[in-house]
Amino acid sequence: MKVAVLPGDGIGPEITAVAVEVLKTVAPDLELGFAPVGGAAYEAYGHPLPAATLALAQSSDAVLFGAVGDWKYDALERALRPEQAILGLRRALGLFANLRPAILYPELAEASSLKTEIVAGLDLLIIRELTGDIYFGTPRGRRASPDGAFAGASEAFDTMRYTEPEIERIAHIAFRAAKARSQRVTSVDKANVLETSQLWRDVVNRVHQQYPDIKLDHMYVDNAAMQLVRAPKSFDVIVTGNLFGDILSDEAAMLTGSIGMLPSASLNERGQGLYEPSHGSAPDIAGQGIANPLATILSAALLLRYSLKRETQAARIEHAVQRVLADGRRTADIVGTKGVSVGTEAMGEAVLQALSQR
Ligand code: IPM
Ligand code: MG
Repeated sequence: MKVAVLPGDGIGPEITAVAVEVLKTVAPDLELGFAPVGGAAYEAYGHPLPAATLALAQSSDAVLFGAVGDWKYDALERALRPEQAILGLRRALGLFANLRPAILYPELAEASSLKTEIVAGLDLLIIRELTGDIYFGTPRGRRASPDGAFAGASEAFDTMRYTEPEIERIAHIAFRAAKARSQRVTSVDKANVLETSQLWRDVVNRVHQQYPDIKLDHMYVDNAAMQLVRAPKSFDVIVTGNLFGDILSDEAAMLTGSIGMLPSASLNERGQGLYEPSHGSAPDIAGQGIANPLATILSAALLLRYSLKRETQAARIEHAVQRVLADGRRTADIVGTKGVSVGTEAMGEAVLQALSQR
């Protein structure tokens, strides 16, 4: 089985290097291929997603992705910015199902900005549709405004659109995920205002008829944003569109106080997937050896579980991470009041050590 490793920018190379060591230890038979992506690829090849990088990803069973982006590319035209690499991979591989767990590790409860009793035990899963919506909808662009109060003025527009099959397939993913959890799905939309959201709601309701044991409710996105900070534990599986999912998943991740701990998976219909930490490239701390590699290590675990169907190896990594946390090892982002502060490499070493102890 073949895994493409795309380290990217900022802290990406540091954290993927550590995760690759973990992956090699747990699954030494994997064939690993490396390629630049994002700003690093732009520097080397003039494009954030060069053809060779895309071909490597397409020919692999799974992609381990670090992070992309740096302020220094803000002035580039949109098509050349690092973010286009991740959007291009999502589109080219058809990675429509984005799973973003937000789990609060008991040892890290104090790292949350919310009161401990509100977040203790938090374990929710955001399922974000990833290849449709306003992110990819056409037409989009700039023009002279054809009508309205400011006709003739320069305007920009994007198009929010969803087809029924796109909503159906992500709804199935959510209901199936809920079966293995607490049998509850909250679908988040803005059906009081948007046509796409009304279709979303209608289709989710229809798909729900095939899952009579699952409890489904609907919530408007503004209310969902509020409930996430008021009573986050009232949610279990949240399913939502691309744009709302982008925003709510950052909010949910931050509730745990340890976005540096959270992995994510993006899957296509064949089970091929891209695995990346939920956090970004953090250029402000790049190269300092202090970034938390655990989200990337846990992403490697999800890679083994979902794309390679190697549950035992995935669980081994997760147990090793739990042991390291229980031992009190902490990178700077989660150090809080207790624990021993360690850097990126030392955290990686600690995980490798925990793996070697049976
Ligand atoms: C994410 C990121 C991306 C997104 C950016 C980098 C294009 O914010 O994965 O959530 O908006 O989807
Ligand atoms: Mg985002």
